[in-house]
Amino acid sequence: MEVRIFNCMVMATALFVAMSVTANANETTARALRLAQQPLADTKPGNLEKGKDVYIHRKKGNCLACHGVKELENVPFHGEVGPPLDDVGGRLSESQIRLQLIDAKVNNPDSIMPAYYRSEGLNRVLKKWKGKTILSAQEIEDVVAYLMTLKGE
Ligand code: HEC
Repeated sequence: MEVRIFNCMVMATALFVAMSVTANANETTARALRLAQQPLADTKPGNLEKGKDVYIHRKKGNCLACHGVKELENVPFHGEVGPPLDDVGGRLSESQIRLQLIDAKVNNPDSIMPAYYRSEGLNRVLKKWKGKTILSAQEIEDVVAYLMTLKGE
């Protein structure tokens, strides 16, 4: 009898944990979708030169390591893990690009692209990174501005 009550409690706890994990995931997705609609709060209009810097530099976006761009052919080490972005500004809207940067998992739960502007819903984050995002809001806007200029030939 006691064993059955115990089992019941274990199952209820497991269900509760599973439900709150799903709820958190939904909240994270809803937040990303909401944020992507317009320029992030407290930012100036995106600066495309700074965006290009973020795109190239390893300690910032390091986007080039996964996404080659012909326009940057003078810069070495273009990766091929992600699709080339030469015409991304013609294919995607500003909001779609912003969403992909905020949290790539919204479009593809298995994405290996880092979530550049997500601070919650991450497991086991080092204390010094808690509540921090990989890129700042302004850096996101700068990269969006740069990508919007890539329209292919
Ligand atoms: C570790 C590899 C990796 C890094 C780093 C990375 N991405 Fe991605 N990215 C991907 C992959 C893979 C995809 C394909 C879709 C998916 O799986 O999410 C993608 C998709 C995209 C898309 C959508 C492309 C399309 O054609 O629909 C954009 C835009 C994008 N990335 C921009 C960026 C930018 C900007 C950065 C840097 C701030 C970046 N990515 C960094 C791997 C990466």
